[in-house]
Amino acid sequence: MNNQTKTEVNKPKLQKLHDVTRVAQFQNKDIINGLFEVANEFKNSSDHPESLHGKVVATLFYEPSTRTRLSFEAATERLHGKIISTENAGQFSSAAKGETLEDTIKTICGYADAIVLRHPEIGAAERAVEVASVPIINAGDGAGEHPTQALLDLFTIREEKPEIDGLKIGLVGDLLNGRTIHSLVQLLSMYDVELFFIAPEQLQLPEKYKARLREIGIKYTDCDSWDNTIEKLDVIYVTRVQKERFESEEDYIKIKDSFILDTTIMRQAKQDSIVMHPLPRVNEIALEVDADPRAKYFEQAHNGLYVRMALLQMLLVP
Ligand code: NCD
Repeated sequence: MNNQTKTEVNKPKLQKLHDVTRVAQFQNKDIINGLFEVANEFKNSSDHPESLHGKVVATLFYEPSTRTRLSFEAATERLHGKIISTENAGQFSSAAKGETLEDTIKTICGYADAIVLRHPEIGAAERAVEVASVPIINAGDGAGEHPTQALLDLFTIREEKPEIDGLKIGLVGDLLNGRTIHSLVQLLSMYDVELFFIAPEQLQLPEKYKARLREIGIKYTDCDSWDNTIEKLDVIYVTRVQKERFESEEDYIKIKDSFILDTTIMRQAKQDSIVMHPLPRVNEIALEVDADPRAKYFEQAHNGLYVRMALLQMLLVP
């Protein structure tokens, strides 16, 4: 093998995308593998490249966030880029004066090299892409999608399990409104997995996602209790009931405690299962579960930093 071929073989295959708006853009194992290879390199070394030197990333968040915003900001800083930010943009940006999202995006494109956007409306990131001259990263569009979360979820499963194929994965909680679920289901459907949708009937996964699973032959089961399911699962992915998407507080209160994972339930789970949660947790995983070595949700949040570093590098470094 000559030197040139050798370098090419060893180079991570970081295929280029211009924006990240939906997880469907990643339904290509080469893109995923290339991205995770870079994320892994970042995780295993404290000596990070200065690859974003001279770049400015804007975080524009119209909904609350801890992990997504701060991990994107930390990812930028760790690669020596700079951050400009408006948290609570609905209140503190010119949106409060009636400015449209489109005008705000066009303006920020004059200041930043990429925009990380969280917005309460489904499709907001795609609207932003229509008018933007810099990459847009969807950090959650209402009850739509959350593609970068699904990527870090998949990265975490890959770290914990030797193979994705063959896994039995339970998705628990608010599958109707949970955008992390909508993105993760699509990403998992690239693999030979079996899915269990554990939710009250009113919060079941929207039919459009199930129709797609049937079309591509992914087996799934709807479950309205833990019984006869928990003991089969390799991955237990719990989500919060999305209070902010309910029309009334009463409706939320009626349903919010339908599924709570505690140590009694964990006793029935497989010894080598893992428990995940995109966080924030309200009470759907009892605090006592944190001491169980199968609980991986804080490690999962930590992985968000490395996956987002890899994403920023993919989008911003030629
Ligand atoms: C999630 C979100 O905002 O969709 N949080 C996150 O980004 N980690 C989950 C949630 O809010 O329940």
